[in-house]
Amino acid sequence: MNRINPETTVGELVAQQPARSRVFESLKIDYCCGGKLPLVQACANRGLDTGTVIGLLEQVNGESADVVDADAMSLTDLADHIVHAHHDFLREELPRLDAITERVYRVHGEREPRLKQVREAFCELKDEMLSHMGKEEHVLFPMIRKMEQTGKAQSCCGGTLAHPIRQMEAEHAQSGDQLAVMSAATDGYTPPQWACNTYRAMLDGLANLERDMHQHVHKENNVLFPKALALESKLTGAVAGGSDAGCCCGG
Ligand SMILES: [Fe+2]
Ligand SMILES: [Fe+2]
Repeated sequence: MNRINPETTVGELVAQQPARSRVFESLKIDYCCGGKLPLVQACANRGLDTGTVIGLLEQVNGESADVVDADAMSLTDLADHIVHAHHDFLREELPRLDAITERVYRVHGEREPRLKQVREAFCELKDEMLSHMGKEEHVLFPMIRKMEQTGKAQSCCGGTLAHPIRQMEAEHAQSGDQLAVMSAATDGYTPPQWACNTYRAMLDGLANLERDMHQHVHKENNVLFPKALALESKLTGAVAGGSDAGCCCGG
């Protein structure tokens, strides 16, 4: 087996072998919003020895049943998978966690003042993700599917894919910040000794939300978006002047 090159980005390493995300999760290396960093840089940022991390990554063999190989999918299948696996999960889980974070903050906020930060960061994340998913489902993903299916670059209101993709990546970075606030304010989702079952259920739910968001953003930032941009530039190169481009609005 070829040794892992420390200059490979962490996003590429997970795209090549999705089960590697487990190693990055356990070391708290950001492979989704921070996926464009070379491994050596990501390790340095966390104060970790790159050789040790490569050793851990090389012990990962094969695929886990619950980790899909996004890199092997067509763009259309990957967009569909993201909607069904991750957007549907958020639409079900965000309202449940909304009620639970409100209740835990109201009942225990005096004893643990950091619950205010958890509640505020959660509310921002929820509102922003609901709007964000709508933009992906109604504008960006249809453009990507149509481009792949017709073999024509899509322009929406005069723009290329680069603009909505930059916007989505900026929103991913914001949601990453909100998850980091919640993780820090709960000591990595660790319950205090006195925590009741609802408090524990909230932390378990938030930890699960963070794991799912990391997978979700990784599949977009490191697989779907770069592949869509590569296809767009191939198609615009093939069509002189890009004059044959369709429009995502139906043109
Ligand atoms: Fe998404
Ligand atoms: Fe997204």
